Amino acid sequence: MIENLKDFIDEVEKFKADSKEKVEELRLKFLSRKGILTEIFNEFKSVAPAEKREYGQRINALKQLVEKKISEAQAGFEEKASKPNDLDITLPGPNYTIGSHHPITNVLNEIIEIFSRLGFTVAEGQEIEDDYHNFTALNFAPEHPARDMQDTFFIETDPDILLRTHTSGGQVRVMEKQQPPIRVLVPGRVFRNEAVSARSHCIFHQVEGLYVDKNVSFADLKQTLMYFAKEFYGEKTEIRLRPSYFPFTEPSAEMDVSCSICGGKGCGICKNTGWLEVLGCGMVHPNVLRNCGIDPEVYSGFAFGMGIERTAMLRYGVTDIRMFFENDMKFLSRFKI
Ligand code: DAH
Repeated sequence: MIENLKDFIDEVEKFKADSKEKVEELRLKFLSRKGILTEIFNEFKSVAPAEKREYGQRINALKQLVEKKISEAQAGFEEKASKPNDLDITLPGPNYTIGSHHPITNVLNEIIEIFSRLGFTVAEGQEIEDDYHNFTALNFAPEHPARDMQDTFFIETDPDILLRTHTSGGQVRVMEKQQPPIRVLVPGRVFRNEAVSARSHCIFHQVEGLYVDKNVSFADLKQTLMYFAKEFYGEKTEIRLRPSYFPFTEPSAEMDVSCSICGGKGCGICKNTGWLEVLGCGMVHPNVLRNCGIDPEVYSGFAFGMGIERTAMLRYGVTDIRMFFENDMKFLSRFKI
């Protein structure tokens, strides 16, 4: 046996650990009590003293080689076990919870999409506004009650700076920068110093619409809003315009749509009137055009503004505006689209 040491070393060197069974065979063959190394050690006792040193070294080399091969192979198997490569692609994958847009975003996107078909683009206003853009340029008289501390959040250190109370200031910012033709939507968050209840909130969203060009008439306003109402609330929707007052439009109106819940027959949502109030609108006041450097003798325009929360409440049958701000996952997951 001992004469074959070199062959054994060769054999172990060439050994390929391609299965656990083969590794175990190798271990039994060389390291077990009846294995080759036990036998070799036994024979070693009778080796001539002069040759002991050389044989001894070879035997140790063989033993270390076998041990190394085995431990390497085992490490390899363990690594494989932690990374299974026998992937079954027919198994169902892990379940990920996919987020969704907020209902306010959904409604806003839908409104933008409808008006974009009529050539409206989107502009950004600013949440922190000055008195001029939020009120003065929009033809609010200096003593107008909307400027009252009770409605408007003013910045304490500078009474000229406030949180915008509506997106209408966005009209002014657009017209200051751009001459007609203008077709623009200004969506955004607005702030009012109001008590929070199921029906009103101190923070909400609006979208403003503005169209200024030559010969824009009230008929254009009506047609545009009717198109929107039918696209958004349904083909059968009817609209009605009631006279109203806003400082920045003349004439001004409020638009109602036939109740999409009961089809106009009367229900709890429309308080049995068959109509839902959805937006304010009117022809842009000549003073507003003038304040923005647009000649009211040449151009005319219409504007409208609607609350997104109110629109979403009607669309989704939500009865408490506070739900939009509470980030309750159960509520929000209802609006996955
Ligand atoms: N800014 C008004 C509000 O907050 C809504 C509004 C009414 C906007 C008439 C308009 C408009 O552009 O023409 O109640």
